[in-house]
Amino acid sequence: MDVNGSAAIISGGASGLGEATARELAGHGATVVIADLNEQRGKAIADELGGVFAKTDVTDDEQVQAAVDAAVATGKPLRVVVNSAGIGWAERTVNRDRAPHNPASFRKVVEVNLIGTFNLMRIGAAAIAKTEPVDADGQRGVVVNTASVAALEGQTGQLAYSASKGGIVGMTVPAARDLAAIGVRVNTVCPGIIDTPIYGFSANADEFKAKLVAPVVFPKRMGRPDEFAHLVRSLIENDYMNAEVVRFDGGIRFQPK
Ligand SMILES: NC(=O)c1ccc[n+]([C@@H]2O[C@H](COP(=O)([O-])OP(=O)(O)OC[C@H]3O[C@@H](n4cnc5c(N)ncnc54)[C@H](O)[C@@H]3O)[C@@H](O)[C@H]2O)c1
Repeated sequence: MDVNGSAAIISGGASGLGEATARELAGHGATVVIADLNEQRGKAIADELGGVFAKTDVTDDEQVQAAVDAAVATGKPLRVVVNSAGIGWAERTVNRDRAPHNPASFRKVVEVNLIGTFNLMRIGAAAIAKTEPVDADGQRGVVVNTASVAALEGQTGQLAYSASKGGIVGMTVPAARDLAAIGVRVNTVCPGIIDTPIYGFSANADEFKAKLVAPVVFPKRMGRPDEFAHLVRSLIENDYMNAEVVRFDGGIRFQPK
């Protein structure tokens, strides 16, 4: 499916992987709607790309509905939903001091990463369902979700994050089956270690990133956000990619720590 002339809504579009995806899709003729908490960066990027910013907390149903309404209001048919909003968290099931994992932090990570993805997928797809099909197959649009290789091999302290991302992986096949009725494909990307602001900018962050790169197979470096965005566009453009969970990780297999 060609993105040219369509509207595309991207959660987390104000930074990192979502920002790169917004740039990639806008560069190929999509009208992008950046749905993010970060108003300052989100607005600046949307303005630069000739798109729209919708201040959105993906955990809030009404705000997600308003962002999807903003995409419909662009006047271009909404055909692309990319879920890239997410947060990290590090805490052990039983911590070093023998205290159990804080349930509030577990809930928060699941709420943002998993429920947030569920929210934009369901509300976005309902809007896509109202558009005319674009091809002889009856296709109307594509959803691309962002999980993580931590969904498959979570490291020490990744219990909450892995649960949230594993939920996104788990939703992929049933969502693709449900949405087939309206001509929508669903794919999920599991990134490894991609160089984005999620790791921060301190001297410690550089040290941390160097450590993360050690087990990457090839190329021996972090992935780039534009490489992720290229994969997202490929998944949108290739009409036979559906219900797939794709690793995007330079061959890394996470070790326990
Ligand atoms: N960078 C990596 O190495 C990596 C690896 C695996 C998975 N991921 C996943 O990719 C996605 C994007 O990560 P990134 O590296 O670009 O991070 P990032 O921190 O650069 O960007 C995340 C964006 O999500 C937004 N956001 C956070 N909570 C939100 C909420 N409740 N509602 C709306 N927006 C919200 C933030 O404002 C930010 O703009 C995340 O889901 C992350 O878990 C990243």
